This record gives sequence, structure tokens and C-alpha cells, in this order.
Amino acid sequence: MTDQELVDRALAVRECAYAPYSQFSVGAVLLGKSGEIYAGTNVENASYGLTICAERSAVFSAIAAGEREFEAVAIVVKGAGSPCGACRQVLSEFHPSLRVILADEHGKIADVLSLADLLPRSFGPHSL
Ligand code: THU
Repeated sequence: MTDQELVDRALAVRECAYAPYSQFSVGAVLLGKSGEIYAGTNVENASYGLTICAERSAVFSAIAAGEREFEAVAIVVKGAGSPCGACRQVLSEFHPSLRVILADEHGKIADVLSLADLLPRSFGPHSL
């Protein structure tokens, strides 16, 4: 699957975001080693702190499907912003140098980088 195809899938799932409080919709798609893809979007809550980000939602859905090895993640947000620290950490658990594709709300790829660049000297299973 190409980077642009992954981004297009992330763009589509972003449409399903439940973000009535922030109005900030995020779409994320993880490409598993098996070739399967796992989509996630942010789900907010009236109790704000319970909100889950799109990236973690995608990871949890992949793990629940039995996939633990990943090739890439595509993230679509307005302005092609970076994932939050919590999501970097959760992604890093499974692949500290995961390929990260950042795209804007039109599906235009702005950056392709390694998760290690976003989360250097990470804490992980090897730290315990
Ligand atoms: N959000 C994500 O889904 N991923 C991130 O990496 C950063 C933030 C969501 C959470 C919340 O619903 C909205 O964006 C505004 O913070």
C-alpha cells in the first residue's frame, strides 16, 4: 500500500471523528506487517479527560485484531500536525522507529519521518 493510499484511508476515517468539543478531527491508519490496515479516529467525551486520540484508537484496534507488528502510520489533521506525546509513546511500544506519514486535511503529505525523530531516547520495554 502506498503512502498516499494510507493517507486517503486516514482522510476517510477522519470523517467519523467524534469531536463535538474541540471540532478538531483526526484520522489515523496503521499498516500492519500482515498488510492489514487499522483505522482510528478521536473520540471525545463530555468528561473531557476521557477523550481518546485517533492514533491510540488505531493501535488498540490493531492489537485487538491480533496484529502487533507495524510498517507505518498515516495521520491526517488540519495543518498536518504531529501526534501528541501520549500517542508517540504508545506507538513506540510496538515500533520505536515506525514510519510516520503526516498529511493535512486535504490529504497532502507534508512529512514522512521516523517515530524515533519524534520521540528520541524513548522509554520502552527495553528500559524495564
Ligand atoms: N488528538 C488526536 O486525536 N491525536 C493527537 O495526536 C492529538 C490530539 C485529538 C484529541 C482531541 O479530540 C482533539 O484532537 C483536540 O486535542
